[in-house]
Amino acid sequence: MDIQSSGSLAGRVAVITGGAQGIGRAIGERYAAEGATVVLADLAEEAARAAASEIEKTHGGTAVAVRMDVADPASVEQAADEARARVGHVDVLVANAGTLLIKPVLDIGLDEWRRVIDINLTGAFVTARAFAARMVERGGGGRIIFSSSLFGKRSGKENGAYSASKFGVIGLMEAMAAELAPHGVLVNAVCPGQVATEMIERLIGERAALTGADPEDVRNEMVARVPIGRLASVEEIADVYVYLAGELSRYVTGQSLIVDGGWTVG
Ligand SMILES: NC(=O)c1ccc[n+]([C@@H]2O[C@H](COP(=O)([O-])OP(=O)(O)OC[C@H]3O[C@@H](n4cnc5c(N)ncnc54)[C@H](O)[C@@H]3O)[C@@H](O)[C@H]2O)c1
Repeated sequence: MDIQSSGSLAGRVAVITGGAQGIGRAIGERYAAEGATVVLADLAEEAARAAASEIEKTHGGTAVAVRMDVADPASVEQAADEARARVGHVDVLVANAGTLLIKPVLDIGLDEWRRVIDINLTGAFVTARAFAARMVERGGGGRIIFSSSLFGKRSGKENGAYSASKFGVIGLMEAMAAELAPHGVLVNAVCPGQVATEMIERLIGERAALTGADPEDVRNEMVARVPIGRLASVEEIADVYVYLAGELSRYVTGQSLIVDGGWTVG
């Protein structure tokens, strides 16, 4: 189905971390289609630049790329200043950069644990803090949207580190929503289920390697658990981020919205 764009984000500036590919890139596409200026902030600078130029070609408007390593606070501060200098005050931050680890807890090394927490949780904190501080200082309100996960609501085997990081993001989001509401900054999280991206391909591969199963069987089993009967497309997930960035959600804050095709009730 073709979703009609309505210009619901015209005049807004949005920074999307992890915007070079996958869900982040799709959010960039949808925001640009809705009239926003977008900044794709990613460790993969070249890929982010290519994505930004594709977005400009398709939707017009302005899309730029900045290098940002969410695990490095200095890099986040620098990228926030660069975004401000290039496209102006940021109205919407999507803290979306993330990484995955599929491993039983007893096999997780401390370095692996720290890498997941550093990127997914500390990275989300550092990024949200940097942009929230600028929004509060400016006084014009804003939106912060975190990419948590279905695994930020329910955990399960081989998900210890990833789930811990994504549960943590929801705790951070709820605290920030309460603290920032008086400043007009609304803070929410999206909890996608299984989305057709490179990350899900990695998850299927890693789970197949762990269990010795055929990757196709892992995929079929995953899909069979989703009442809607398929993985989500990145566009279907990105549309929820459009809602949370625009006027239709102006009374919504402190929420973690599960978008899982019914997995949790199936
Ligand atoms: N794909 C899914 O099924 C799914 C489900 C639930 C939640 N999520 C979450 O949604 C987000 C996006 O997932 P995706 O599937 O698009 O992932 P992806 O792996 O396709 O893309 C992740 C992006 O983040 C960037 N990135 C990684 N580490 C970074 C760092 N330190 N600093 C800056 N950028 C960095 C990568 O370069 C990449 O562009 C992640 O937070 C993920 O945990 C994904």
